[in-house]
Amino acid sequence: MSAGHRPGQSNPPVHVAIIMDGNGRWAQMRGLPRQEGHRRGLEALRSTVRNAGELGVKVLTLYSFSTENWRRPATEVSFLLGLLRRFVEKDLAELKASGVRVRIIGRRDDLTPDLVRLVEHAETATRDNTRMTLVVAFNYGARDEIVRAARRLAADAAAGRIDATAIDEDMLGLHLDTADLPDPELVIRTSGETRISNFLLWQAAYAEFVFTPVLWPDFDRAALEAALAEYARRERRFGGVPEALDRKVGAA
Ligand code: IPE
Ligand code: IPE
Ligand code: MG
Repeated sequence: MSAGHRPGQSNPPVHVAIIMDGNGRWAQMRGLPRQEGHRRGLEALRSTVRNAGELGVKVLTLYSFSTENWRRPATEVSFLLGLLRRFVEKDLAELKASGVRVRIIGRRDDLTPDLVRLVEHAETATRDNTRMTLVVAFNYGARDEIVRAARRLAADAAAGRIDATAIDEDMLGLHLDTADLPDPELVIRTSGETRISNFLLWQAAYAEFVFTPVLWPDFDRAALEAALAEYARRERRFGGVPEALDRKVGAA
């Protein structure tokens, strides 16, 4: 079997996921408070949503606050929570008008009820949009997501609603926050860090990773295009053999 994407093919990834990192360092380099980095990071987020849509990306997932980010100083945490709130309040109308469906993934039970209501409103207000899906990973941790899915499956099994032996990859996937979304083909991380930091551990099993030294507030259209070009040069095998070898084996 020869699998999906081969180098040189120009089909863009359907789903691009980004670990938006480096806001603090961007600010520090300029002698500014970290908050200024986050504010500029929100500008980069806005332009990336626009650029990704124009470049044909159908699903864009942005990691904006992890379940581990609560470890930061309380002032920074509340600034980041406020930033999400302001983003939804200020940008929802434009996102709605430009055909963007908004989804928020992550745990909600430790967010305040008004923030949960706001997030739910953003989702329902845009649910019929089809041009692009913007997935904001907020208070998101992949291990937490998998644990929540496991708990629901265990409860279903204990109540006799499902047979434990029927649990397979598809069923687990359907209990994740991303149930109705395709897996990301490309995961980008900015700021030069080369780790996954608890992002989409299940969904990125066969994703291509592009790490760029660009700090998130500086991530512009050229940086996004460069990452997509890098993806286009990759060969995805999914555990199979390269196309050329596949043909040789077939011919032998
Ligand atoms: C990314 O920038 C934003 C969040 C993680 C919320 P950072 O705040 O992690 O920036 P650095 O890594 O300290 O530079
Ligand atoms: C990952 O960045 C989380 C987000 C981008 C929201 P961090 O800056 O929190 O990750 P670590 O701490 O460097 O692994
Ligand atoms: Mg960071």
